[in-house]
Amino acid sequence: MRLYAATTAPQRQKTDCAIVGLHEGGKLSVAGVALDAALKGRLSRVIKRGDVHGKPGELRLLDTDGATCERVLLVGLGKPGSFGRKQYRKALVSALGALAKTGARDAVSYLGEALAEPDAYYDARLAAEALGAALYRIPVIRSSRKPAAPALRSFGFAVAAGTQKAAAQRGLDQGQAIAAGAALTRDLANLPANVCTPGYLAQQAKELARAHKTVKAQVLDERELRRLKMGSFLSVTNGTDEPAKLIVMRYSGGRAGAAPVALVGKGVTFDSGGISLKQPPGMDEMKFDMTGAASVFGAIKAAAEMELKLNLVGIVPACENMPSGRATKPGDIVRSMSGQTIEVINTDAEGRLILCDALTYARRFKPATVVDIATLTGACVIALGAHHTAVMSNDDELAGELVAAGRRAEDRCWHMPMGEEYHDQLKSNFADFANACGRDGGAITAACFLAKFTDGLRWAHLDIAGTAYLTGSHKGSTGRPVPLLMDFLLGRT
Ligand code: BES
Ligand code: MN
Ligand code: ZN
Repeated sequence: MRLYAATTAPQRQKTDCAIVGLHEGGKLSVAGVALDAALKGRLSRVIKRGDVHGKPGELRLLDTDGATCERVLLVGLGKPGSFGRKQYRKALVSALGALAKTGARDAVSYLGEALAEPDAYYDARLAAEALGAALYRIPVIRSSRKPAAPALRSFGFAVAAGTQKAAAQRGLDQGQAIAAGAALTRDLANLPANVCTPGYLAQQAKELARAHKTVKAQVLDERELRRLKMGSFLSVTNGTDEPAKLIVMRYSGGRAGAAPVALVGKGVTFDSGGISLKQPPGMDEMKFDMTGAASVFGAIKAAAEMELKLNLVGIVPACENMPSGRATKPGDIVRSMSGQTIEVINTDAEGRLILCDALTYARRFKPATVVDIATLTGACVIALGAHHTAVMSNDDELAGELVAAGRRAEDRCWHMPMGEEYHDQLKSNFADFANACGRDGGAITAACFLAKFTDGLRWAHLDIAGTAYLTGSHKGSTGRPVPLLMDFLLGRT
């Protein structure tokens, strides 16, 4: 797919489809007015007839057979003044989704001009990300043939002033890299757990390293994990026949020797709960319990594709959480790599058990910052729903950077508190602390557990249990929080 910044006036811009905004009340955007004049009032006639109103989400494809554009796709923007970045992204995804069903090989979007506070770089980047989302197809495993691939080959983002061309092109290029990373995250997360095993993830890391010479991958097996004394991580994997892996990916885009940012992703390829077995409804969704890991893969891929000027290390503890005669039992006490002992009150609180050893392992890279990403708690879904990722940190400035990145990237997160009073909930009579406690503040107590392994690290935790995937008829991975992570990382270059 070729993405370009279009600077030609709309009435002279050659394209198979011009994507034009229409406000409620029938008011065309600037480009729309110019096109309408060139098309001898074709657009305003359709509007006057009452065939299209400009309501948010409304789409109307017109064959114009014009000398310059063959089609115009009118996109409802809602009331003037109500069109922000969130609406912009949504409008683009649905417009481009509709466009992908046509034979158009090229399209130019003029939706950016409707934004109250335009920003050539961000508006172009979001357009490229929306294009990626609109063209994304779940890797469906069906007996029948696949649907035909969309005809679209190139996409133009219209900029009003020529001076914005360079910023827009940079936004398009980086947005395309982010979209490629998010697509990898979605592919891995959407795969069923009988395909996407820890071994499969390990292969994918090697694949990523093969595809990009700036990426190196290393896979540690259970024998090596035992040698590293990762007793907490290994305790989760006792009940399964599927061998656990610790996957380490290194991306080198910064100065040689510059301290890397470490991304640590929960890679539970299936979370049955173990002996603390989950209820059947929704258990299939626990194949998504490796989305933290998948977002580390996505971020590394995006970094490699955009040649991000930074060093990264991705650390993925990958395993299954299953019940069996050999599985860890509630009440068992395990020793983490840090030496701290943990009473496993609930085998379903397994994410923290694998992450704590991965966080300890991260220390050997002397990281400038560590961010872990995990579908960690159901409590986080209760607290923030499917809209905000939760961020907890031992550094308020770092949490602030992540919140700001999420806002800019339209992939939001919300800073949650931590503190002694929450730590107290994890007290144990038998070990240094417990892995689970009462339900109150569950997302926070999980973060407090991880905090016990981050002394001296500049660390933040992203709980993506609510944002990583959609349920119901739209069930599937969202690709979040790859845009948030990439904005955060770009902010450090
Ligand atoms: N993977 C789950 C968290 C989860 C729940 C993610 C729902 C997405 C949707 C995690 O391993 C888990 O089971 N957490 C427990 C912790 C509890 C036992 C302390 C939970 O949230 O119930
Ligand atoms: Mn669990
Ligand atoms: Zn889990």
